[in-house]
Amino acid sequence: MTRYTFPPDFVWGAATAAYQIEGAWNEDGKGESIWDRFSHTPGKVKNNHTGDVACDHYHRWREDIALMRQIGLHAYRFSIAWPRILPAGAGKVNPAGLDFYDRLVDGLLRAGIQPFLTLYHWDLPQALQERGGWARRETAYLFADYAALAVKRLGDRVRYWTTFNEPAVIANHGHLNGEHAPGIQDAPTAYTVAHHLMLAHGLAVQALRASAPSLQAGIVLSQWMVDAASDNPQDRQAADNYWTETESLYLEVLFKGHYPPFVYDLLQAGFPAVQAGDLATIGQKLDYLGVNSYSRHLVGAQGRIEPVPGSEYTAMGWEVCAPALRRLLNKLNAEYKLPPIYITENGAAFEDRVEADGQIHDERRLDYLRQHIQQVALARQDGVDVRGYFVWSLLDNFEWAHGYSKRFGIVRVDYDTQQRTLKDSAHWYRRLIASGEVV
Ligand code: FCB
Repeated sequence: MTRYTFPPDFVWGAATAAYQIEGAWNEDGKGESIWDRFSHTPGKVKNNHTGDVACDHYHRWREDIALMRQIGLHAYRFSIAWPRILPAGAGKVNPAGLDFYDRLVDGLLRAGIQPFLTLYHWDLPQALQERGGWARRETAYLFADYAALAVKRLGDRVRYWTTFNEPAVIANHGHLNGEHAPGIQDAPTAYTVAHHLMLAHGLAVQALRASAPSLQAGIVLSQWMVDAASDNPQDRQAADNYWTETESLYLEVLFKGHYPPFVYDLLQAGFPAVQAGDLATIGQKLDYLGVNSYSRHLVGAQGRIEPVPGSEYTAMGWEVCAPALRRLLNKLNAEYKLPPIYITENGAAFEDRVEADGQIHDERRLDYLRQHIQQVALARQDGVDVRGYFVWSLLDNFEWAHGYSKRFGIVRVDYDTQQRTLKDSAHWYRRLIASGEVV
């Protein structure tokens, strides 16, 4: 049996996002977000589930920190809800919202858990959507103001700041296929949004650093490896093209200073959203890159191969292919000059069963995590500077358009009683963290 050892300063964490766990959607002065509006619109989310209550984390955060402590997490990645602290997105501040995150951060630090804070995990204030949302350039400047407000209050205690979670998903799911809030389906809008997100990122990094020069600023990208179906040149070319079109846009603009040419070909009228000076603003030097990765694309000259014969699939319909994570990390490392990497999300939804004794023997999730963490160890041996790993997710939660039908947690949430139960994967993760070793 091979043992894979991690150094003591390797960061072991778990991740969540505000809308997926907090609930309390209209309490204590919180404003409406685009996800409130979207989930309250019949037919948008499976079973018309909403995040109104979710895991009730807004009220149960103390208990949730106790769970993190029990697992032995070094770090907790969470997001703050913009409309909780600025109900209309700008202007009037909601002190109760800031107080909530203040208490949460203090609670984490008291428990010895490092907060990794994300400013935007998809819940734009609805009031800003009504003024054009991310399709409007002004929103990028308002985002920087929001970042400045948050860092002013929390920057003395929170060291790791992430601007955006998965800009690609915001642009594509929110504005191209419309499966996520705000449910727009329009390609030119999606690319305009992509650019405004990047601009907002650059402006926010400047605002964060202006207030707390020594904080660590980064962004989280969704990256799935693209493997070629075979070694023949046509398949390899097809896989390269697929990578460029689905995976490279944000890496290119953040780390090479320009958008890939395919964007300009696609937007025949040019890329009007891009103004002089924007690319320099976007290219702020970052302290870390967060990578969210769950699966891969297998591509041949005939297109994407799905399902891949013989492969295991999760409840999301995502192929389990752990070695692709190592290949991805090596590809990123070879093709871009990157800051240190954190795996900010990795995990799996499976249909869990609660046994008669109340336990959840989630072997498949446990195995998924084991395999992927082993590949992270191998990527580190290959020379990729990966500093930490966050399981998605700490808790079962609201999985966007799937509602509560997909469970990613290492802790089970009974949505009727809000009871939390550590699954076998959580017990296993606790032992892994304690030993720094995966077998
Ligand atoms: C990622 C999201 C996260 C969660 C996982 C399964 O794209 O960042 O909120 O939904 O997928």
